[in-house]
Amino acid sequence: MINIGLIGFGNVGKSVFDIFAENGDLISNRIGQPIHIKKIAVRSIEKYSSQVPDPSLLTDSVDDILQDPDIDIVVEVMGGDQPAYNFITQALTHKKHVVTANKEVVSKHKRHFFQCAKEHGVDIYFEAAVGGGIPIIRSLKVGFSANNITAFYGIVNGTTNYILTKIQEEGKDFNTVLKTAQELGFAEADPTMDISGLDAAYKCVILAAVAFKIDVQLDSVYYEGIESISLKDIQYADELGFRIKLLAIGNRIDPDTFSLHVHPTLIPKEHPLSSVRNEFNATYIVGDQVGESMLMGKGAGGSPTASAVISDIIDISFNLSQSVSYRNLETRFSDAQVQSFDAHECQVYFRLSVKNTPGVLEQVSLQFSKHSISIEKIIQKEMIDDRADVVIITSPMSESTSRLLQENILSLDSCHQISSVLRLIKSF
Ligand SMILES: NC(=O)c1ccc[n+]([C@@H]2O[C@H](COP(=O)([O-])OP(=O)(O)OC[C@H]3O[C@@H](n4cnc5c(N)ncnc54)[C@H](OP(=O)(O)O)[C@@H]3O)[C@@H](O)[C@H]2O)c1
Repeated sequence: MINIGLIGFGNVGKSVFDIFAENGDLISNRIGQPIHIKKIAVRSIEKYSSQVPDPSLLTDSVDDILQDPDIDIVVEVMGGDQPAYNFITQALTHKKHVVTANKEVVSKHKRHFFQCAKEHGVDIYFEAAVGGGIPIIRSLKVGFSANNITAFYGIVNGTTNYILTKIQEEGKDFNTVLKTAQELGFAEADPTMDISGLDAAYKCVILAAVAFKIDVQLDSVYYEGIESISLKDIQYADELGFRIKLLAIGNRIDPDTFSLHVHPTLIPKEHPLSSVRNEFNATYIVGDQVGESMLMGKGAGGSPTASAVISDIIDISFNLSQSVSYRNLETRFSDAQVQSFDAHECQVYFRLSVKNTPGVLEQVSLQFSKHSISIEKIIQKEMIDDRADVVIITSPMSESTSRLLQENILSLDSCHQISSVLRLIKSF
């Protein structure tokens, strides 16, 4: 008999419980021995007692799980940094395997957890921490393990993908779409972590750890959210043949140097990532042997996330039945460097608001040529009174050049404002 202790009984914890109730026999048959949830730790027993058939399953003391010698696997589905960090560390120290869906705690403390697990002969699995129900972590660890992964491009936040899709398809502005997303449960009441790109940045750190075997912290990842994406940008991008997606990007620049960044990005409409709509997630992987692959599916929601959590439980249960551990855990991080984002180069989309007078386009173009940047496309859009929108797509330039260029453009009398600066990727 394999015994599980659940810490947290919210969206994911309850779904884990429900899937065991529905598919328990199937899961036990797959493992080859019975498995069941022995204890569930929550803060308030009263709040959850009507949601379980037997309220004695619930405890308000996590120690009832951590100190129980019969519990083999601790499933942390409460979220946040502390006290999740302490609970996971204690579970591993007590020689219990851990499954977590918590991107924040894994992203911050992965090295500590991996070492602690190794020292105590147990495993920590975290499939649900990136991409919800999509088996991206297992694919990188096992399926693509013959490859040097050269790049990943992830749509790893369902809320922002939902908002960008709805702005595009319904022609509504950001705030209107955000409000609807909140009403429909696709965005949190406080959506800051999603909208700002922070959630995707945590996931970028985890993808980098698994794909590139590098141990970086959040401060190595440049991130930008979708707050300033307007309907106009989405429409202009569409006319030019692009979609705008919030991407978590990792690139191997040379064997020991990587770039990691999260930002809204124009990508060609024909690229498979462009077809990932609404709350769906996808990660596009480039490996030196396998070439290009994309995994797509539901990146959030109770059942898809619990599906990933239970796949980790099943994997660990196989390990237990074979008396092996540490089978699927890569802890040898390399000493690679992350390139400063200032040096990162890509094509850029500018939207400027300029005076609607003759000669302005020449003045603007001159600023680009001063920095040896060529203009791939320049189009004049909407003219209102003395103002016109100008949209420019450039040749690749570094972030530092882009900033200098923006200062130069803003100093022109003919430029009212730089309305948007977005990065653009054509080849992956
Ligand atoms: N929801 C998703 O779609 C999704 C997708 C991927 C990953 N995840 C990750 O999965 C984790 C759980 O997410 P969720 O959506 O299920 O969260 P949630 O609905 O907010 O549930 C969190 C649960 O943890 C309990 N909890 C919080 N602090 C606790 C403590 N100190 N001791 C014991 N229990 C505690 C909460 O109890 P109270 O109600 O009493 O506070 C609640 O039952 C998070 O790390 C999240 O990032 C979620």
